[in-house]
Amino acid sequence: MYMKILITGVAGMIGSYLLRDLISSGHKVIGVDNLSRGKLDHIKGVNGFNLEKDFMKADLSSIESCEEIFARLTKGDVIIHLADVVAGLGYVFDNEHHIFRENNIINSNIVTLSRRIAPCRFIYVGTACSFPKSLQLGSKSVMREEMLFPAEPESSYGWSKLIGSLEMKYAFKKSNIIFTTLILHNVYGRYTDYSIQTGQVIPSLIHKALLLKSGEHLKVWGDGSQSRSFIHASDVSSALVKVINYPNTLPEYIQIGPNQATTISDLAKEILRLCGIELKPQFDSSAPMGDLGRACDYSVAQSILEWTPSTSLRDGLQDLITWIKPRLNQSKSNP
Ligand SMILES: NC(=O)c1ccc[n+]([C@@H]2O[C@H](COP(=O)([O-])OP(=O)(O)OC[C@H]3O[C@@H](n4cnc5c(N)ncnc54)[C@H](O)[C@@H]3O)[C@@H](O)[C@H]2O)c1
Repeated sequence: MYMKILITGVAGMIGSYLLRDLISSGHKVIGVDNLSRGKLDHIKGVNGFNLEKDFMKADLSSIESCEEIFARLTKGDVIIHLADVVAGLGYVFDNEHHIFRENNIINSNIVTLSRRIAPCRFIYVGTACSFPKSLQLGSKSVMREEMLFPAEPESSYGWSKLIGSLEMKYAFKKSNIIFTTLILHNVYGRYTDYSIQTGQVIPSLIHKALLLKSGEHLKVWGDGSQSRSFIHASDVSSALVKVINYPNTLPEYIQIGPNQATTISDLAKEILRLCGIELKPQFDSSAPMGDLGRACDYSVAQSILEWTPSTSLRDGLQDLITWIKPRLNQSKSNP
């Protein structure tokens, strides 16, 4: 069925995959982003998405900007809300108040205005960082949706995302709007921020590995034993498409991630191998490592949405290296 869909954060990593998937399924997409992390390059040249008409550059922490965007929506449209401040561990712990405040304002603006237009669906994305810190103890700690509460996330980012999902629930629970929060594990893919300072672990390790000079070691934060469930952005996009097409009421939370966790040590070794570098990573135990580890029980997604992950970590990493490499070469030749 044809739908008109607003994607917030459309020029970011997940938004750029989702835009392509929705357009190729024949939907009308309009997108908004303030380009703080996303880039126009990521969404340029997508057939059926006209940058001039269908994209709006706007800051969603301003209610006035949000009003302008919502003036383009009508009852029954779909809203997929991806825009929030997200970054690597270092940035998150150095900017806790900024992230908390910014995400709460963005989420509150979007949810409040959505109530007015009554979309047929409102989809939010949460994070595995919202699970209680005390439950994330290693690769054998398997997260299930009901473990989110009582809440005790480690970071202000984890709290802000959980509060976003609660605001959505309180706004829509007495309406006919179908809503859910997809709780995403660690997402990676093209169209990502690969800066060493602000990028997440996979793109920033690839960036560092590709810059290594002979004899240098790949420096990795923590002792390498911490683990994460890495999920490719194309698999997240396929889950979002399934959610949009689901005809009935959805559970409040659905986890999206693979059921095995990879240690950061294994991840770093695999990245070095795929980059053709015959060196071992060097671990910095004094650097922050975040939660110790978590894996994802995706049985709710499997039974309700018939969703399973399809991109292997090796294939996803190889594809991302292929995407980042020419960009680094280009910035070397145009410093
Ligand atoms: N990447 C992950 O590992 C991961 C894991 C769990 C959840 N998520 C969630 O998924 C969503 C998308 O994440 P992503 O990985 O694609 O990140 P991203 O940074 O690539 O995408 C987010 C987009 O939102 C935009 N944005 C930020 N603040 C904005 C504002 N005030 N106004 C308008 N646009 C704004 C950014 O420019 C960016 O393009 C986020 O809500 C994030 O919290 C991501």
